[in-house]
Amino acid sequence: MTDNSSGEIVPFPGERPDASSARVLAIANQKGGVGKTTTAINLGTALAAIGERVLIIDLDPQGNASTGLGIDQRSRQVSTYDVITGERSLRDAILATAVPHLHIAPSTLDLSGFELEMGHSRDRAFRLRTALGQLNDAAMGPGAYSYVLIDCPPSLNLLTINAMAAANAILVPLQCEFFALEGLSQLLKTVDQVKQTLNPDLSIHGIVLTMFDARNNLSGQVVADVREFMGPKVYDTIIPRNVRVSEAPSYGKPVLVYDLKCVGSEAYLRLATEIIQREKQFKELRAS
Ligand SMILES: Nc1ncnc2c1ncn2[C@@H]1O[C@H](COP(=O)(O)OP(=O)(O)O)[C@@H](O)[C@H]1O
Ligand SMILES: [Mg+2]
Repeated sequence: MTDNSSGEIVPFPGERPDASSARVLAIANQKGGVGKTTTAINLGTALAAIGERVLIIDLDPQGNASTGLGIDQRSRQVSTYDVITGERSLRDAILATAVPHLHIAPSTLDLSGFELEMGHSRDRAFRLRTALGQLNDAAMGPGAYSYVLIDCPPSLNLLTINAMAAANAILVPLQCEFFALEGLSQLLKTVDQVKQTLNPDLSIHGIVLTMFDARNNLSGQVVADVREFMGPKVYDTIIPRNVRVSEAPSYGKPVLVYDLKCVGSEAYLRLATEIIQREKQFKELRAS
């Protein structure tokens, strides 16, 4: 685990706060530019469009998920930094977006100081998990959300560890490029370590291939390699490279709002359906 601070990380004190019925998915990959934020925004929008109640937690100091959902800096009075440092409640940070049933807890650059400031506190890895426990509070209205998506920074730092400690499962975006698999084993190792020490229930929900380019032979080869290496963990849905997807954030809109009919929107809707399907299977497995 990437944890350079001194002092051990203690196991979570007491029961895992059950984040009501919400399923918590951390969208993680320590590589930048692979489609984490794009997936958080557009998977969140697609899930909301098909009837789920979704909360995005922006855990990247860059705040791209917040910006991409049209939340300007002035509106970020209370941020995820205030929440995980314990200054404010999660409820105070949550903002509605233009998409019905899609809310966000925005981030600001303050978040980049979290590791230095909190690196010595014994519960430093469980700050987010504790905050998500507030989803059970009566004030929040238990059951307010059916999915919580955490947009992680491009690093295996303490913020990402917080996300992994708080999540039910990890969703890994992988860009269809030559070095796609490079770094994946390190990510899987970290997930394993978090599972052994901080969060025994953690699993890999799935791997989503992003920015697929049909005109590029390499893209096809990468898909084949990743499927061979990771088997059924790879979602059937592949997100194509689509200019509409990359244009949408500059309008502060998810691509599904910007251009519902484009191939990028269609792909994220398919991914949402597939994820709900997988969730059903997990639920049946847990019940049996
Ligand atoms: N399917 C796609 N088609 C075209 N551009 C994409 C697609 N997915 C992501 N991008 C663009 O790639 C860049 C990196 O994506 P982003 O989601 O910000 O990655 P990360 O959060 O992993 O750093 C952004 O400019 C984004 O608009
Ligand atoms: Mg990002």
